[in-house]
Amino acid sequence: MTGAGISAESGLKTFRDAGGLWEGHDVMEVASVEGWRRNPALVLDFYNQRRKQAMSAQPNAGHLALAQLEKEFDVTVVTQNIDTLHEQAGSTRVIHLHGNLFQSKSSVDDNLIYDIGEKEINVGDKCEKGSQLRPNIVWFGEMVPMMEVAAGIAAESDIFMVVGTSLAVYPAASLIDFVNPETPKYIIDPKIPEFYGTNFYSFEEVASTGVKKAIQHLRDNLI
Ligand code: APR
Repeated sequence: MTGAGISAESGLKTFRDAGGLWEGHDVMEVASVEGWRRNPALVLDFYNQRRKQAMSAQPNAGHLALAQLEKEFDVTVVTQNIDTLHEQAGSTRVIHLHGNLFQSKSSVDDNLIYDIGEKEINVGDKCEKGSQLRPNIVWFGEMVPMMEVAAGIAAESDIFMVVGTSLAVYPAASLIDFVNPETPKYIIDPKIPEFYGTNFYSFEEVASTGVKKAIQHLRDNLI
């Protein structure tokens, strides 16, 4: 399970480290259903900028280590991130809990999702049913459609690793509650988040070095 922290060293800002503001905006202004209703132009512009920024970001050693891990393990990455740095690093099974910056979605039909690559979404851009397109992002106040699938994977996991998330946003943060108490858990974060769990190993450091150390620990102790 990954969060904004894994992309921090790729130059993409985390949310809660940014003093309550996300790139200068109140998160509720740009990442909530109310914000979208109030000012769609601002929200579209905000995500157009995030898309541009993410386009120029490269995966870092943390993403690459998780991708490499597929050579030894069956790995599914469940990410809260809307960038695609895991895929760029080579991970083949990635579940985006909070959506994907490089897709647009109809605002009347959740099943109408379009790959847009680096293109902008602007006011007046419509889906095939004639409604305004929006980013395919799960905002505050919305359901997390992939949560059930992710919870099933967490429940069946033999090893669970958490990288770079404050575990502050629900339901995503509750994923760890689905993991069997006996299952070994790795937590990699320069500021280990508070959570209640058993059988875990903490690596209090950044993803680029911490993920590699956790994987080495895994090889040395659990195989
Ligand atoms: N390597 C690893 N972890 C890091 C690094 C780093 N280089 N830098 C910061 N971190 C950690 C922070 O210590 C913090 O625990 O990453 C975490 C980032 O936490 P948040 O900013 O809260 O991000 P995240 O947990 O992904 O947020 C969850 O909130 O705003 C919503 O939908 C948005 O998906 C997002 C969700």
